[in-house]
Amino acid sequence: MKVTVVGAGAVGASCAEYIAIKDFAAEVVLIDIKEGFAEGKAMDLMQCASLNGFDTKITGTTNDYTKTAGSDVAVITSGIPRKPGMTREELIGINAGIVKMVSENLLKHSPNVILIVVSNPMDTMAYLAHKATGLPKNRVIGMGGALDSARFKYRLSEAVGCPASDIDGMVIGGHSDVGMVPLIGQATRNSVRVSEFLTEERMSEVVEATKVGGATLTGLLGTSAWYAPGAAVSSMVQAIAQDSQKMFPCSALLDGEYGLSDLSIGVPCILGKNGIEKIVEISLTDAEKAKLQESAAGVKKTNALLEGVIA
Ligand code: 2OP
Repeated sequence: MKVTVVGAGAVGASCAEYIAIKDFAAEVVLIDIKEGFAEGKAMDLMQCASLNGFDTKITGTTNDYTKTAGSDVAVITSGIPRKPGMTREELIGINAGIVKMVSENLLKHSPNVILIVVSNPMDTMAYLAHKATGLPKNRVIGMGGALDSARFKYRLSEAVGCPASDIDGMVIGGHSDVGMVPLIGQATRNSVRVSEFLTEERMSEVVEATKVGGATLTGLLGTSAWYAPGAAVSSMVQAIAQDSQKMFPCSALLDGEYGLSDLSIGVPCILGKNGIEKIVEISLTDAEKAKLQESAAGVKKTNALLEGVIA
């Protein structure tokens, strides 16, 4: 499998590193517009091959999309990350043009590519990629819910006092500080609902901490996080590469599912060799349904800012 990662910044390079260490791809191409940057990151990562025991070949290129030709999957991390105090939505003015151009360039050299969009505001960037490329809806996937769910599990493990590996939980809805819908009522500790271990108040604290998980890290780091975003998107690439039929919350273009249409937003999806193999409509409480509808309204409001970017 050949994977392209657009953007050799912290998220892109972490994604490439995790893909290499998991060793499921023959080749990873890192591409960036900054002269020599992707080449340097690729070389540095390749110097870990003997240490981390991987055979994946990582190469870098400065903005030469011919080197990405024939990619099976392309991860789009390019664009600017947010600074402390910023919302993801504030990035749209700069990132929309970048994501549109990148999507078009990728498709030109890899007609069968599956796109995974990470750039923010992610749900809107994924929607933009759909519109800019005209790709079938199963081949444009937004990464947000996998990351938000990992943060949800982290907060739950902290609250319950158990390893995160004992926790299962999912976050759906928009990848935004206000639009996320952590499904706390369905979260479990080894199949036992977390409500058996936590008070209502503590569960609400976990939900709120999850929703601002990205902003919390941006405040601490001065820029967006990269380890967990890189790990989250690499796990989605792996599910596609291995045709694993694993279920992740992904930003998917909806056409009536959950009563929503004409937007990309986080819902449970089965990932396999075709990208999104199936959008799974799970049972939601009335409160969860209402939160998802509210989240969708927020995503559509941000999508409206694309006016003029999408021809
Ligand atoms: C985050 O939440 C970058 O949106 C990503 O960290």
